[in-house]
Amino acid sequence: MNLSRRSFALSLAAAPSLLRAQQDNLRARVKIDTERTIGDIDPKLYGNFIEHLGRCIDGGIFEEKSPLSDANGFRKDVLDAVKKLNVTLLRWPGGNFSSNYHWADGLGPRDQRPPRLEMAWGTVESNRFGTHEFLNYVEALGTEPYICANLGTGTWTEAQQWVEYCNSKEDTAMTRLRRQNGRQAPWKVTYWGLGNEMDGPWQMGHRSAEDYGKFALEAAKLMKWTDPGVKLIAAGSSNFGPGSDWTGWNRTVLQFLNQHADYLSLHMYVGNQANDFGDFVASSVELDHRIKTAGGIIDAALSGQPGNRKIYIAWDEWNVWYRARGNQERGRRILEEHYNLEDALVVATFLNTFVNHADIVKIANMAQLVNVIAPIFSNDRGLFLQTIYYPLQLFANNTRGKALELFVDSPKYKTRRFDDVPYLDCSAGYDNGTVVLNVVNRHPGQAIETEFELEDKQFTGPVSVSVVNGPDIKSENDFGKTLVKTTEQSAAADGKKLRYRFLPHSYTMLKGKVS
Ligand code: AHR
Repeated sequence: MNLSRRSFALSLAAAPSLLRAQQDNLRARVKIDTERTIGDIDPKLYGNFIEHLGRCIDGGIFEEKSPLSDANGFRKDVLDAVKKLNVTLLRWPGGNFSSNYHWADGLGPRDQRPPRLEMAWGTVESNRFGTHEFLNYVEALGTEPYICANLGTGTWTEAQQWVEYCNSKEDTAMTRLRRQNGRQAPWKVTYWGLGNEMDGPWQMGHRSAEDYGKFALEAAKLMKWTDPGVKLIAAGSSNFGPGSDWTGWNRTVLQFLNQHADYLSLHMYVGNQANDFGDFVASSVELDHRIKTAGGIIDAALSGQPGNRKIYIAWDEWNVWYRARGNQERGRRILEEHYNLEDALVVATFLNTFVNHADIVKIANMAQLVNVIAPIFSNDRGLFLQTIYYPLQLFANNTRGKALELFVDSPKYKTRRFDDVPYLDCSAGYDNGTVVLNVVNRHPGQAIETEFELEDKQFTGPVSVSVVNGPDIKSENDFGKTLVKTTEQSAAADGKKLRYRFLPHSYTMLKGKVS
C-alpha cells in the first residue's frame, strides 16, 4: 500500500464525521485580487509566550549550569531555534503564574532572591529569571516584550511601579533601583497585560467581570499616567465552557475599560479528544466565529464613545493542548505535549484565521515557546523541532503586508460540530509585489487540484512552494526523528494562472512575484 493510501485508510478509520462521497478528482478554484484587502497584517500575529511553568523557562530557554548555555544562562541552541521562528512579540511571565508573581522578587543578585511557593503549577519559584533576565532575552532575540501584570494577588501600586521601573526616565526610587541592578536606560516596554484569564475560577484572584473591570480600570489609569505610551491588554475570555457567558464577560469588562484598553485578550486551546480528524482540523471554524463575535462586542463597546479609539483583539494564548493537561499536571515536567501532523495542520488553520481577520486581530501569541505545549522541545543534551514549529516558521517569515480577501471555491464536508467545512483552508498576504498563499488541505486522503487566478496582476516567474507534510496524520517528530517538516519545491505559473495539486493532509505555502 502506498503511503498516501495508507494514511487515507488510517485517517478514515479515525474520522467518523468525514463525508466519504467525494473520492475522485477533487478540484478547487481560488481567485486573488491584490486590491481586495482585509487589512495590514500586524507582525505581532507571530508572537510567542514564555511562562514560569514546567520546563519552559527553567530547563528550556534558561539553564544556568548547562554547557549549552551562554554566560547569561540562555541555552544557545534553543535561542537559535527560537530566532528562526522570527518571534515578533514575547509574552511573560504568565499565564496563571503571573497571578502570584511579585516582580520585585526577581531583582538583584540571583543568589539573594527569595524562593517562593508557586501556587499556579505547584512548584517553588527560584526567582532566578526575573525582569532583567527577560528583557535581556528579548534583546538577544531581537523581539518586543509584552509583560503581563499581576492583577490576581497583586496590587495597583505593584503594577504601576513595574511600569515605572521598566520605562521611566525620571530619577525615582524605582529607577534608582533599576540602575543599581545594572540597567541605566529605560527599556520602554510598550505592551502590558491587565492580568491573565481573570474570568477563570482556576485563576488566583479570579473576580466577577464587574469586579475585574473596576480593579483593572484603576490599574490601567496608574499605568498610563506613569507612561502614556504603554498599550494595555484587558483580560477577555478564556472560559468558553458550558454556562460561562463568555460574551457577557467581554461586554462588562469593556464597559469599564473602553477608554483605557488597547486590546482585548482572548485565549483558545483545542484538542482531538474524540480522535476525529475531520472535526479536529475544522477547529478554526470556531475560532473564526469567536473572532467575529468578539469584534462585534468591541464595536458595541466603542459605539457612541468620544474620540476615535480602537480596541483590537490580542489572541495571546492559542495552541493545540489536550494530552498533557488535568489536575495531576503539577510540578516540573508538565504540559509536555508531543505534537503530530494533524496538530500542525490545526496550527496552520489558526494562523490562516488570524490573517483572515487582520483588520481586528493585531496580536497573537502561540502558547508556549519551549517544552510546555511548544514548538521546540529540549533536554539537557539538545532539542528537536515539533511538527507545529514548521507552519509557524513559514507564516512568521513570509506572510506579511496586506491580508487579501480570497474567493475560494472548495469542495466541502460536514463534521460533528460544523456544516460545510471547506477542505481547502486559505489565507494570503501581499507585500512589495509578492503574493504569499497559505493553503491547508484538510482532506486526509485526497489531493485537491486547484486553479489560482490573479484578477489584477500576472505572475512574473515560477512560484516557490513549501510543503509541511508527513507519512500520515499521526506522524510525530522526536529526538533523532523528523517525520514532519518543510520540503521546498517550485511550480510554474502561466501569466494569470497557477495550477497546483495540494497533497492530502498538508499545509502548503506558495510564494510568487506578481506585477
Ligand atoms: O499556557 C498554559 C496555561 O493556559 C496558562 O498559564 C493559562 O493562562 C492558560 O490557562
